[in-house]
Amino acid sequence: MRIVLVGLPGAGKGTQAAFLAKNLSVPHISTGDLFRMNIGQGTQLGRQAQEYMRAGQLVPDEITIGMARSRMEQPDAVHGFLLDGFPRNVFQAEALDQLLKDDGHSLDVVLNLVLPHEEAVTRIAGRRVCRHDSSHVFHVTYNAPHEPGLCDACGGDLYQRQDDTEETVRERLEVFDRVTSPITEHYRLRNLLVGISALGSVADVTERSMVALRERGVRADRVSTPACDR
Ligand code: AP5
Repeated sequence: MRIVLVGLPGAGKGTQAAFLAKNLSVPHISTGDLFRMNIGQGTQLGRQAQEYMRAGQLVPDEITIGMARSRMEQPDAVHGFLLDGFPRNVFQAEALDQLLKDDGHSLDVVLNLVLPHEEAVTRIAGRRVCRHDSSHVFHVTYNAPHEPGLCDACGGDLYQRQDDTEETVRERLEVFDRVTSPITEHYRLRNLLVGISALGSVADVTERSMVALRERGVRADRVSTPACDR
């Protein structure tokens, strides 16, 4: 099962991916999370990525593709994965096609989470992420933790991402429109793209995604709810 999630910053890719990956028993591979992990560990890759992320710009392709490839080659991804935030431009999409082809694989489906820009800004402004596990994502209003500032799933501290300032968010949205949105055409032409409205509750969007996956022949039975989905 090889799935890509596409959508504006704040569309809910990470929120949905946490549940879908668990349900489908494949790893959730988020290039944003991998970069943040490297920054947290002070690696050279993290140092290379940090300034681009802080400015809301894409990290250069040669860094990103190499990192994504190594993660996809890990043993837990042998039978598939859910990609979140990769690919992010047509060059990366073509590189992914080639990587998969070299291994005798292909993508099953690309879910495009569609959300108006203003709603994305509101979601990002209120986002809080767990320091222990970045797949635990909350919102101060829409998806508030039981205890303010603490993760429901593991008790970790919640923090606001450095690139979630209003100015950087506007830049990220502009980069998405200009550089990332053309990949939807890349996948539409390959009959892989399915549009999903990302409006409504987390559960609503999950349900739409599950229906779309089933219609594409992906075995997706709702067996549990994500730790942070209420
Ligand atoms: P990345 O971490 O991938 O960020 P992003 O794409 O900007 O997406 P976000 O994480 O902001 O949003 P999301 O869609 O996951 O939304 P979430 O589920 O958190 O990338 C960060 C940076 O890394 C990039 O800018 C770039 O510099 C670099 N990078 C990463 N990948 C790269 C690549 N391939 N190439 C080059 N550079 C790369 O939800 C948002 C909020 O909304 C949360 O608070 C959540 O609780 C809430 N929410 C979610 N769903 C709902 C709902 N249905 N209703 C109400 N609230 C909701």
